Amino acid sequence: MLGAANMFSSDFTNLVGTVGITADQNPGGLGFTDPPDHTRLRRMLTPEFTGHRLRRLGPRVESIVTGQLDEMAATERDGGQVDLVQQFALPIPSLTICELLGVPYADRADFQRLSTTRFDLLGGVTGSLGAISESMEYLLEIVKRQRAEPGEGLLGQLVRDHGDDISDHELAGLADGLLTGGLETTTSMLALGTIVLLRHPESRAALRANDAAIEPFVDELLRYLTVVQVAFPGSRGNASRSAGARSRRATSCSAR
Ligand code: HEM
Repeated sequence: MLGAANMFSSDFTNLVGTVGITADQNPGGLGFTDPPDHTRLRRMLTPEFTGHRLRRLGPRVESIVTGQLDEMAATERDGGQVDLVQQFALPIPSLTICELLGVPYADRADFQRLSTTRFDLLGGVTGSLGAISESMEYLLEIVKRQRAEPGEGLLGQLVRDHGDDISDHELAGLADGLLTGGLETTTSMLALGTIVLLRHPESRAALRANDAAIEPFVDELLRYLTVVQVAFPGSRGNASRSAGARSRRATSCSAR
């Protein structure tokens, strides 16, 4: 039902004019786009997320995890206080997404700040949209560089395969969607999942004793923690953009 594009919409333009939102704040990407554009962009991205492609990232993810564990051990050795979020939960997805997209490792601090600010509800809608605009400016720069010299990562691949069929803004929007979709979510899972394990020593022992128990446990953690608790607000498109229509259709979802 929520996938019925003629009834529900994720198109950002439906929000323009409400609570001070302007058209130039549109981040695009899959999260804020309806079919047929959503379908076209999603098709370009799908091959990059096959098991085969993602498995290629495996060794790199392992070395990122090992690197962070080493850093934590060194902090403890030096008498410092280990911070699970700053040294483990945040950098692991951040560095992995840098790797996936093919953006410079040196940019990771900006990456993390831009993508976490928008979910900081204390900053209100203006804070989130400000962070989105800043993020888009930054990603548009990266897209320009990838157009000039396509790299090994996902952005370079998209430029090589679909360069003429995708605009700079759409490419930056896709990158932005992956950055925000993948960072805060995975960070929360790593941090909160650790708390669950610390609180349940029996589960910890069961996982240590049986590798096969890990995968179902992660699935169960996804359900138990439910780290995504927002849906993108929207309405039914241009024909019904009155405030009344918007309030009758409270939320939408891009579950296509
Ligand atoms: C624990 C980890 C994750 C959780 C719980 C999660 C959850 C979700 C949910 C609930 C949606 C649907 C949002 C809506 O339309 O209302 C979504 C969409 C999406 N997620 Fe994730 N996600 C996770 C990890 C990731 C990662 C690692 C990436 C990419 C690197 C990613 C990229 C996306 C994208 C691009 C969409 C939009 C898909 C579309 O509209 O076609 N997510 N995610």
